[in-house]
Amino acid sequence: MKGVSVMSPVGAPSTTSRSEPNDGGDSSPLLEVEHLSVRFPVKSGLGRPKKFVHALDDITLHVGRGETLGLVGESGSGKTTLGRAVLRRAPIASGTVRFDGQDITHLEGESMRQLRRRMQLVFQDPYASLNPRMTILELVAEPLVVHGMARKPEDARHQVADLLERCGLPTDAIDRYPHAFSGGQRQRLALSRAFLKDAPLLLLDEATAHLDAENARLIRDAIARLTAGRTVVSIAHRLELAASADQVIVLEQGRVVEMGAHADLMARDGHYRRLAASFARGAA
Ligand SMILES: Nc1ncnc2c1ncn2[C@@H]1O[C@H](COP(=O)(O)OP(=O)(O)OP(=O)(O)O)[C@@H](O)[C@H]1O
Ligand SMILES: [Mg+2]
Repeated sequence: MKGVSVMSPVGAPSTTSRSEPNDGGDSSPLLEVEHLSVRFPVKSGLGRPKKFVHALDDITLHVGRGETLGLVGESGSGKTTLGRAVLRRAPIASGTVRFDGQDITHLEGESMRQLRRRMQLVFQDPYASLNPRMTILELVAEPLVVHGMARKPEDARHQVADLLERCGLPTDAIDRYPHAFSGGQRQRLALSRAFLKDAPLLLLDEATAHLDAENARLIRDAIARLTAGRTVVSIAHRLELAASADQVIVLEQGRVVEMGAHADLMARDGHYRRLAASFARGAA
């Protein structure tokens, strides 16, 4: 694992270095976001000047290969927008996004399509993402078929069964439909699909936000097993996911207000600790 480095809001770089070798032997960060700002145009009356929501303001962060970055902040602080901007699904007003050494800020067309295969976003709402008319085998194997890694779902039966097991799901469920699963199980299925695509960068958005404590724990275990050695940006509503990340960034109104390792942040009387306290009260 390598370091995640983040520019603090006052501009002082901070790097966490680790001694483990990285997988590809490439020491450059996988993801580099520099001075990124995102503005959404909002409707204003006819003839009035155009208005914008400043969703992100001057964000700089680097994520090393095999590293996990936890992104936390109150509702509306810009977490999802940051994930979307990295995927180039939010309007970038200024700054740059580099992925695997390539400036992707203005990439378009086929190059953009190719790039999106290499970054997987796991959505906030697991219910919306599983087609109820497909079996679990078809659903989970679909990305392999789409990317030409299997001719038909049946060819990937072993791989899918193995993945279900790693996600703590019954392997005999492989021919069932999504409705036969609980919300938590469905979320783990959605997760397993994203992981099977083998994308170098995974963006997990609010993976445990809608779950009860037991399902949240199962998801965290599945994530820990599936993310080992992968590069992950994990947007967390509950802090448990951030706690296991190599580095955490706290966003507030579209700005980075604090960053560091979970233990260091908890030792400080700062934004992170206040956020943790408000989560514990169920207020955020
Ligand atoms: N498509 C959009 N058009 C206009 N404003 C938007 C759009 N998407 C997000 N915003 C605004 O950008 C800000 C950040 O939103 P974002 O969804 O990134 O927050 P978040 O941190 O993910 O919140 P939550 O924890 O509730 O998911 C908010 O003020 C939001 O209203
Ligand atoms: Mg969000």
